Amino acid sequence: MAGLGTVGGGLLKLIERQAELRLPGKLEVVAVSARNKNRNRGVDISKFRWADDPMELATAPDIDVIVELIGGSDGPAKRTVEAALRSGKSVVSANKALIAEHGIEIAALAEKHEAHLLFEAAVAGAIPIVRAVKNSLSGVIVSRVSGILNGTCNYILSEMLRTGAAYETVLAEAQRLGYAESDPFLDVSGGDAAHKVLILAAIAFGAQPAFDQVQVEGIDKIEAMDITLANKFDYRIKLVAEAFRANGSARCRVAPVLVSKEHPLAQVNGPLNAVVVEGEPVGRLTFTGPGAGSGPTAAAVMGDLARLFEGPATPPLGKPSRDLAPIITKADSATDQGSFFIGAKLADKPGMFAALTEELAEAGVSIDKLIQESAGDTGAAPVAIMTHPCPRAAVERALSRVAELKITADEPRLLRIETRA
Ligand code: HSE
Repeated sequence: MAGLGTVGGGLLKLIERQAELRLPGKLEVVAVSARNKNRNRGVDISKFRWADDPMELATAPDIDVIVELIGGSDGPAKRTVEAALRSGKSVVSANKALIAEHGIEIAALAEKHEAHLLFEAAVAGAIPIVRAVKNSLSGVIVSRVSGILNGTCNYILSEMLRTGAAYETVLAEAQRLGYAESDPFLDVSGGDAAHKVLILAAIAFGAQPAFDQVQVEGIDKIEAMDITLANKFDYRIKLVAEAFRANGSARCRVAPVLVSKEHPLAQVNGPLNAVVVEGEPVGRLTFTGPGAGSGPTAAAVMGDLARLFEGPATPPLGKPSRDLAPIITKADSATDQGSFFIGAKLADKPGMFAALTEELAEAGVSIDKLIQESAGDTGAAPVAIMTHPCPRAAVERALSRVAELKITADEPRLLRIETRA
């Protein structure tokens, strides 16, 4: 085991209980490696051989499997995984950044050495979605994979709605509960969900993952007022990750989106994740479950370890890496059409609301609904607007004029409204 953080600790506890599991054989932890030997993990690691450098494990002759829980797209995680595959060892990893950013080369390496490279824990925690899309759903021509793929963001957005607490307070609690990455910027910026949806897209569409092609927006600019006012419109704000077919290519994007209170994703709260797979000839399949945290993620790693008993390795991304279609391409916001939500704090002076709506009218954007709340003694009134369908570029044009006029106390948020049921 290389890396003994939240998931590593959870896995050691689960391995101690393997008699209660349904594994086809027995697992033995030969050696462990982590940055800090003495950190309290709630499990005794003194009985295992210790390696300061995970590379020692990657080439040790008495080790069959490397469980890589170091994390990070490059550095020791990548070196260890590559060295292990080169020595023909199986690798089980929870490292979404590594697979999303170097998936093609690492898959090719695994195929060349006929080694297993399994990464169920990299996507949606305990939901067995990688295996489902790769194997069980090989008979489906997938048109879209979408869902809530970051437990931290979903927890933050749900808790901000439930308690009205500030973003920072709720983020700190998510970290305490072990949902967040060691650098929570990856969570709240949308990067973590982008890694995950790209992995699913590569498998579902048989396409080469290209991380720089994912259009990514996080939740770090969302204000409590956006969540509250969206709620008054009977909508929830969710960080939605999606990959879909468009113009002969597979496209990927991650962004906070308004979904109606009745939408299946609106019911998915706290650190739960959900994945919706759509395609022919099955229609829609929905998977929901714990997407983050020590136990759920360790259980996914354990599922991969169980798979190792079943037989020879198959290509890590489903199709052999050389047969994967051309690269996944970026979704194009310039051609986006839809209904949009605008949230802003408007200066509480005569004519400000008129100036805002005039800019929207000027850009050809028609308002569907709007709410303005009292500024109280803050000097800036929370305003939320839902538009009729229009080009996103038109709303962006209006908002850049609004910025020039300096009529808002903050930078307005522009969010897509999901109109598909
Ligand atoms: N930090 C991730 C999340 C968990 O919040 O979903 C591991 O993928």
